[in-house]
Amino acid sequence: MSGIMTTLERAEAAEHALSQELDRVVVKSVIYTSGERDPRVPMPRPPDQGKLVMMGQDPRLPQMPAKPTLIDYFKYRFGPANHLLQSARLAQKSGASEKIVLACLVHDIAIAGFIRGDHGYWAAQLLEPYVDEEVAWAIRYHQALRFYADESVGYKYPELYSKLFGPDYQPDEYIERDYKMAREHKWYMTSRLICVNDLYAFDPNVQVNLEDFTDIVGRQFKQPKEGLGWDSSPSAHMWRTIMCPTKYL
Ligand SMILES: [Fe+2]
Ligand SMILES: [Fe+2]
Repeated sequence: MSGIMTTLERAEAAEHALSQELDRVVVKSVIYTSGERDPRVPMPRPPDQGKLVMMGQDPRLPQMPAKPTLIDYFKYRFGPANHLLQSARLAQKSGASEKIVLACLVHDIAIAGFIRGDHGYWAAQLLEPYVDEEVAWAIRYHQALRFYADESVGYKYPELYSKLFGPDYQPDEYIERDYKMAREHKWYMTSRLICVNDLYAFDPNVQVNLEDFTDIVGRQFKQPKEGLGWDSSPSAHMWRTIMCPTKYL
């Protein structure tokens, strides 16, 4: 073996140094290094040095309140959410219904705080217990619709996609299948409007505040009284994972 450290090894060493300062041992889930590590090789474990393992909120992260709301997740767990705020603002300016404004506000929360690949499906699952069925449906299918133009509403295939995926990129079969299904569905236009408001939402000069949407979230998002993640909905565990991403079990 050469003495040169790989990027992954360096990251692990830096992390190890950082975790030395914690009074709990952090054992990372597979997803942290998934795709970078040969899954057939066992994950290295940090030495426990007699410490207990992390079983709650990681002190390196901003602490979530005892009964977190969707807005708290925006503040403390989602990366800068300008894209979401700008999409929601654009929908609002074009006179879209509250349902659609809310859909635009949360359409990419999977990317902002959880998992990127298949983000529309992940976000729909996260949200399903708490929003109108049509909103969750629209978010699920924006994933597929974004790859297909609809000239009737002025939606073109995003130029950015040609840059990102190459000019000859063909969406996977399941995306095409879901697009065809969604195209015929009664809620097609709700999902399409997410794409329409998504497309022009990358303006670094526009500053939108989360507070502008507090009322809409209050009306359109069923906040569980126990706190989002501490309730017993089918996706509560996913919210808890976003809250406590380094929890041991
Ligand atoms: Fe998206
Ligand atoms: Fe988006």
